[in-house]
Parts: sequence; C-alpha cells; structure tokens
Amino acid sequence: MRALASPRVTVSPDARAVGDAVAARVASALRETPRLVLGLPTGRTPIPMYQALVALAARGQADFSRATTFNLDEFLGLTPDHASSFRAFMNRHFFDRVNLAPSRINFLDGTPADAEAECDRYERAIEEAGGIDLLLLGLGTNGHIGFNEPGAVLVARTHRVRLTPETRAANAALFDGDEGAVPAEALSMGMATILQARSAVLLAHGESKAGCIARVVNGPLTTELPASFLQLHHDADLILDAAAAGQLAH
Ligand code: GLP
Repeated sequence: MRALASPRVTVSPDARAVGDAVAARVASALRETPRLVLGLPTGRTPIPMYQALVALAARGQADFSRATTFNLDEFLGLTPDHASSFRAFMNRHFFDRVNLAPSRINFLDGTPADAEAECDRYERAIEEAGGIDLLLLGLGTNGHIGFNEPGAVLVARTHRVRLTPETRAANAALFDGDEGAVPAEALSMGMATILQARSAVLLAHGESKAGCIARVVNGPLTTELPASFLQLHHDADLILDAAAAGQLAH
C-alpha cells in the first residue's frame, strides 16, 4: 500500500540537485531492469538531468545498452534533422552521448504522411515494448504535460495537438527566440498513454512553475491543469527545487 499522498513530493535545493536525484533514480531502475522502457521529456528542465545521466554513463554507473526510449512529443512539420526539433534536442543532450541502441530509440515522426496513422503506430510500438516502465515529465507553465494542453477535454491516446500561444512562447528559445517560428501543431502522447506508465516522475524547477505545482498537489483534478491527473497515478513523484515548491505548505 503506498502512502495516501499522491503524487509524492521531494524537494531538492536547486536545479542541479533535481537533475542528480532523477538521474540516480533512472540509473537505479536500469540496474534493476536493464531492459527498462523509459519515457523522456524535452525542455530546459530536464537538461541537468541528462547531463547527470551522461556523467553516470561515462563512469559506467548507467548502462543504456538494453534500454528502450519513447519521447513524449514532437513538433509537427519538423524533420528529425531540423535543429529545433525535439529529436535534434535529444540527440544533442542525450542520445549521442550514451550507449543507447539507435534501433531502440522511439520518436514521433514530425513529418508523417498521415498524422493519425503515425499516432497509432506510436501507441502500438509502446504496447509492443511492454509499456513504459518509468516516464519522466516536465511541466508547462500552463500545466501541460507532454503537449497535452489545458482545455475542456483531454485526449487519451497519442494525438495531434494545436499548441496554445503560451506554449509556443515557452518554446521560442528552441527557435532563436522567434515565437512565430514555433510550429502551431505537434504530436503528443495522450493522457492515458502517460498515466499508464508504471512509474511517473515529474521534474520542475524555478519560481515560474510554483503556482502550477501547488495546484497539481492540492488543487482539484481538472482538464484545465492536465498535470493534476498525476493525482490518480499510483506511483508518481514530483521532484522539485525549492523555488518550484515555494507555494506548497510546509
Ligand atoms: C515543452 C514540452 C513539455 C515540457 C515543457 C516545459 O512544452 N512539450 O514536455 O515539459 O516544454 O519546458 P521547460 O522545461 O523548458 O519549462
């Protein structure tokens, strides 16, 4: 029986400590399950975690040789080699630096002939891999996870999404600060795809996430804050820095 509080909250001093804590969790999961199926996020938040994982891998303390990965999302209209694609981000920060087998790296295709068929393919690939063991998540400032945006409804499975202006602005850094260059649409794992992961770990740091985090922990379950659905998960953790935890009661 797990503790009643869901998700569990761990507060680390700063972004680097958040990255170290999550990387240690991944390394330990890999030791226990070498064929681990990992779900991975992009964004500024996980960068220290990827740096920590690369360092652990270099010291022989994290072996990805038999692991499989599935990224959460990709912009629609960007090829994998486009410098602003999530795939290129992952190559730069992680895939090119650890011993993952390229054939076990799974990604949504940003330029599919048929977007719906591509989403179905991804769902099937996750199923065929045996489901996601450990899914790491970032948090949009509007409470999105993956690219599941706040709204009247949430979509269960991998799907095509129209990005909100807030999300496009938040992703402008990947496009040399040019918000207009951020694609208007993306493909993303759905909420059920996310919630079916055996374990979920959401990382957040910085004051800009503090309001959302307080609502994720204490607020009502609402489609207006997709991350609030982590309250339904039986094995979910929030790993936060002190700033992101700043609006939680002590
Ligand atoms: C994008 C990604 C999300 C990520 C979010 C937060 O929108 N699709 O998965 O969580 O960015 O980004 P950051 O970590 O830069 O705040």
